[in-house]
Amino acid sequence: MRILSVESSCDENSAAVLEDGRVLSLVTVTQQVHQQFGGVVPELAGRSHLELQDANVCAALRTAGCELPEIDLIAATSGPGLVGSLLVGHSFAQSLALASDIEFASVHHMEAHLWSVEIEREPIALPFLVFLASGGHTMLVVVSGFRNYEVIGSTKDDAMGEAFDKVGKLLGLGFPAGAAIDLLAQAGNREAISFPVALQNVTFDFSFSGLKTAVAYKLRDEPSWSGENSQPDLLASFQNAAMRSVLPKIERAAREYRVRAVCAAGGVAANSALRVGLTKIAQNLSIDVAVPAMKYCADNAAMVAYAAHKQVQAGLRAEHLPVRPRWPLAELRSPAAN
Ligand code: KG4
Ligand code: ZN
Repeated sequence: MRILSVESSCDENSAAVLEDGRVLSLVTVTQQVHQQFGGVVPELAGRSHLELQDANVCAALRTAGCELPEIDLIAATSGPGLVGSLLVGHSFAQSLALASDIEFASVHHMEAHLWSVEIEREPIALPFLVFLASGGHTMLVVVSGFRNYEVIGSTKDDAMGEAFDKVGKLLGLGFPAGAAIDLLAQAGNREAISFPVALQNVTFDFSFSGLKTAVAYKLRDEPSWSGENSQPDLLASFQNAAMRSVLPKIERAAREYRVRAVCAAGGVAANSALRVGLTKIAQNLSIDVAVPAMKYCADNAAMVAYAAHKQVQAGLRAEHLPVRPRWPLAELRSPAAN
């Protein structure tokens, strides 16, 4: 089965073609218009999706070497995300499906991130644990099957990626700042500053706003930390505190829920310290580890098509859902409940 997919929930416009779960093509364009504002401007994001959508879908089909009539299903993200952006990609894909008499499926953005851990590898043994962390979400999910998800922890305030972006903004590192911080931190001393680690050993929930504020206070009280030579140490210390607030929880959850694999997905899953930390956890517990290839960590349409592929495998076809800017993962109903 060939699936054409569209992702437009935030500032990435992406299209992909998958055949039986295998990626034939992926075209992702990150909108640059938001750079100057230090964050995504919803109105501009929607307009930019309008400009990019058609060309990206054509490019994905061309790269995959197929024509629209050879597509069996068209899928698009219907939420959560920015409503204007979602409407552009979802309506485009729905119209294309309707006009071409092709089946259509709506996809939950976080469910797509969740299953991205399985792209280009063999299926992961169940149950597995996924740390889902992006610019808007941070969750710890025990996956016992398709649509069998237990969200055991989530952030109480900022998302983890948001904390990276806000710290990056304090230092003028551009937007989003996660990748730049990751790179600079590699040259720094992570013990240079002792930043606070929130909610240690209490729950599986997370909190990042205190850490971000601690960095802001450090820079206010000792401005020399923003100097080019000091930034790597400051950022390595920040990243280390962020890792210390998530990795022990992930390990504890993996033990408690006796999962067979530990995984991470979403934009933050690209982080090198997180990837190393997960590998160590997997070694400690003698279980499998899975993180998506870099191009499947950030928002991309391959994960949307893969989630649609899982829907079809589970016998759920043609889910036409309305666009939903807010849509908790826990609300997704299992095929058995339908
Ligand atoms: O999943 P994603 O592409 O978009 C959302 O759905 O939000 O995630 C983007 C987030 C941004 O906050 C970005 O700074 C963060 O992922 N990110 C990283 C890294 N690469 C991207 N955070 C930490 N380390 C990275 N290497
Ligand atoms: Zn995302």
